[in-house]
Amino acid sequence: MFLPVVLLLATRAVADDFRPVFHFVPEQNWMNEPNGLIKIESTWHLFYQHNPTANVWGNLNWGHATSNDMVHWTHEPLAITSEDGVEAFTGTSYYDPENTSGLGTSANPPYLAWYTGYFPSNGTQDQRLAYSVDDGATWEKFQGNPVISAAQETPHDSTGGLETRDPKVFFHEPSGKWVMILSHGGQDKLTFWTSMDGKSWTWESDLTAGDINGLPSGITGWEVPDMFQLPIQGTDDTSWVLIVTPAQGSPAGGNGVFGLTGTFDGTTFAADPVDPSTLWLDYGRDFDGALSWENVPASDGRRILASVMNSYGASPPTNTWKGMLSFPRTLALEQRGSSRHFLQQPVSELNTLGSQLAMIQNQTLAPGQTLLSSIHGNTLDIRLAFSIAEGSTLSLAVRKGESEQTIIQYDRSNAKMSVDRTASGDISYDLAAGGVHSASLEADGSDMVHIRVLVDICSVEVFGGQGEVVISDLIFPSETSDGLSLQVSGGNVMLQSVEVRDISLE
Ligand code: FRU
Repeated sequence: MFLPVVLLLATRAVADDFRPVFHFVPEQNWMNEPNGLIKIESTWHLFYQHNPTANVWGNLNWGHATSNDMVHWTHEPLAITSEDGVEAFTGTSYYDPENTSGLGTSANPPYLAWYTGYFPSNGTQDQRLAYSVDDGATWEKFQGNPVISAAQETPHDSTGGLETRDPKVFFHEPSGKWVMILSHGGQDKLTFWTSMDGKSWTWESDLTAGDINGLPSGITGWEVPDMFQLPIQGTDDTSWVLIVTPAQGSPAGGNGVFGLTGTFDGTTFAADPVDPSTLWLDYGRDFDGALSWENVPASDGRRILASVMNSYGASPPTNTWKGMLSFPRTLALEQRGSSRHFLQQPVSELNTLGSQLAMIQNQTLAPGQTLLSSIHGNTLDIRLAFSIAEGSTLSLAVRKGESEQTIIQYDRSNAKMSVDRTASGDISYDLAAGGVHSASLEADGSDMVHIRVLVDICSVEVFGGQGEVVISDLIFPSETSDGLSLQVSGGNVMLQSVEVRDISLE
C-alpha cells in the first residue's frame, strides 16, 4: 500500500515535469545552447544543440523550432543532423543575399549556417557549412565540407584540433568579406578569419586574454562567441560588441557570459579597456552560451539574445527534458558618464500576454506588513518600482509554500539586488543549485529602484534598473508552492507601483 501512494505523490509533484510555459524547452530530451538564431520573413528561427535520443549531452544535432513572437514555439524536424560519425556542434546562420557562396541563385539566395563538426571517435573538431534555399525550413550540408579542416586550424590552435569551435559568422560590409570568429577553449583566445565566399577561409588575427586591458584573471575556457554592432544610446556613435561564454570565472561561479566593446577593422578586434563592474551580462548561475538573432529587419532594430539555462549537465530533476532557453532579451548599450552599460530587457512580445493579478500604486509598506499574500501563480511577470529608506531591505518571495520560497531582495545599505535559492525547493541535485546570487544596483536619478521578475515554473530571471544587471537561475519547487509575499525590514519602502501579471498561455 505504502509504496504506490508514495509513487503517486512523487508523480503528482512533478506531473508536468517542471515544463515551463512561456520559455522554450525541447519536446523530448537534451538541449544546450541556442545556435544559428535568425529571423526569416516573419519567423523567428531557433536552432539549438540537441540530443534527440537521450536526456544527456551527446549525439549533438541542430534542433529546430519556429515562432512568430518568441513565446509560442513550434517544434520542427532536426535542421543539421549528426551523420557519418560527425556531430553538429554550435554555430551561426546568416543571409547571403548576393549569393556569394553560389549555393543558391541570384533569384533565390541561400541562408548559410556554419557549425563545428565534432568527431566523437577522437574528439577533433573542424568547421562546416550547411545552407537552406527554402527560407530556413530545411538545410543541406555543403558537399565540400569541411570549410576549415583540422589541418588548417593546427597552426593557430595548440590542442591539435580538440578545441576549435563555435563559428560566429557575419558579412562585414566595409571590407566586402565574410568574417568568422572561432573560440579556442582552454587557450583563452579567439581567432578571426575572412572569406569571399563563406567556403574558403584565411586566418587573420588572434584575440587573447592578454590583448584585453583590464580583463580580470581566471576567466577561462572561452566558447560561443558572438559579435555585432550596437548604437550607443546617449551618443550618435555605434560600437562593436563581442560576447563570449567562458567555462569558468563568472560572478556566480562556473560558466557565464561577458561582453566587450571595441573597434573592428574587418580583420582585428581591439577591445576597449574593461570595467569589471559592467563586464557580465548575468549574475545568476543559469545564463550561458548566449547568441543573438541575425537578420532582424532595421524597422525592428532590436538585438535580441538568448542562452541556455542549465549549468548542471544532466543533474536537474527533470525526466523528459534538460536545458531551457532563457526568455529572449534585448541588448542595448548606453553611455553614462565615462562608463558604458549593457541594458537588457525581456522582449516586449511578453507584455501583451496574460492577465493582471495585482496592481498596487503609491502605497507605503512598513516592517511587519505583508502584501501579495493572496496572490498565487507559477508563471508570472512582476514589476516593482519603489523608493526605499536607507537601512531597509525589500523582499519579494515567489514560488512560496510551507517551507519553500525563492527570495528576490533589494538591500539599500549595500545597493545590492539578490536572488536567494537556499529554500527554493529541490537543490540537492547539484552543489551549485542553492545559495544566493547578487549584483550591484543603484537607484535611478529619481531615487527609484526598478526590478522586473519573470517566474516560469522552474526559473526566475530578475532584471534590475533598466536592465543593467540581470540574475537568472533555475529553481525546482513543489507544484503547490505558488504563493507570493512582499515585505520590508529595517524601515519603510514607498511602492510607486507593483504589478503582477499571470502569463499562463492557452
Ligand atoms: C558550449 C559548448 C560549445 C560546443 C557545444 C557542444 O556549451 O561546449 O563550445 O560547440 O557546447 O554541445
